[in-house]
Amino acid sequence: METSNKNTGKVAWQSPSNIAIVKYWGKYGLQFPLNPSISFTLSKAHTQTEIEYLPHSESKQINIEYYFEYQRSSQFEAKVAKYLHSLSNDFPFLLHYKLIIHSKNTFPHSAGIASSASSMSALALCLMSLSQQLDNNEHNEQKFWTKASHYARLGSGSASRSLFPYAALWGKTELIQESAQEYALGLGNRIHSEFKSLQDSIIIVDAKKKQVSSRAGHALMNNHPYKAARLQQANGNIQKLLSALEKGDWESFIEISENEALSLIRLMSSSPWYSLLKAGTLEIINRIREFRISTKIPVCFTLDAGPNVHILYPQRVKNKVLEFINKDLLIFAAEKKIIHDKTGNAPIRLI
Ligand code: PMV
Repeated sequence: METSNKNTGKVAWQSPSNIAIVKYWGKYGLQFPLNPSISFTLSKAHTQTEIEYLPHSESKQINIEYYFEYQRSSQFEAKVAKYLHSLSNDFPFLLHYKLIIHSKNTFPHSAGIASSASSMSALALCLMSLSQQLDNNEHNEQKFWTKASHYARLGSGSASRSLFPYAALWGKTELIQESAQEYALGLGNRIHSEFKSLQDSIIIVDAKKKQVSSRAGHALMNNHPYKAARLQQANGNIQKLLSALEKGDWESFIEISENEALSLIRLMSSSPWYSLLKAGTLEIINRIREFRISTKIPVCFTLDAGPNVHILYPQRVKNKVLEFINKDLLIFAAEKKIIHDKTGNAPIRLI
């Protein structure tokens, strides 16, 4: 393959975060999931990544400068260089160019929102676009998204799901023939209009960086005494969720969403154990349940390996849910931080 080293140029992508309803928890090999997962793509919480390339003499090393929110970050630089190095066989240009990478999140600073899904998917998309320009790879629309999802997954498992409008499925399930362990696929055309307007109000209970990484959490699954039961549960929940999403069935959606969030907490309570919950988290989830029972409004919660609570509901009940959040839940939000997000579209190419 010919790799030109004369050009300079830029590519940039904006990619969203996502929130899993059926959780990916536990992995093996090269970031393959123990169970399939389904997530909703968000619209406000996203990362913008720009890569400028400059010619550089061929090297065995990755040559990058990495800036996070305009500040050079040696911590991210080392992590990204390692990731890019692992991909240099697939993207030969990586050893011929110097890359200046700028990345920023559009969600508030230190809001305790996981950004690996949006940042790794934005980076993978930039790699795909660079590869077309610098390794003369032809564009094939279907393959582009599948490969981008594959490379995003190698950076962070959940990032594989951030590339598709509305919702995505990652991991093999016999229910969908095209599903795969290597990449996610979009579920946009299998979703009832009720779920295309899904709202996600995220109550930031604690904005501090989490003390236990997802990597350590996934590792706990290897010898987990509940492993077999968890795999059975997750596969069963995938089946029920696919059907609920197709039918617009909120009752089943609520049951699955809360069952998965509570299961995640239980899976962390192994040996050794850890907890990411705060007192406010428990108070909020109890109040959501009471509110739902007393008003019959379809609203539920999920959690994202941290203390912050994602409150999920259809747009048609938005006013009533916002009233409830402001009256009964705002007191548990650190610095009154709540992000009102909703399902969104696929990533956007900026340059
Ligand atoms: O992609 P990771 O390694 O950060 O793991 C994500 C794990 C959860 O957010 C808890 C679940 C999920 O499916 O996103």
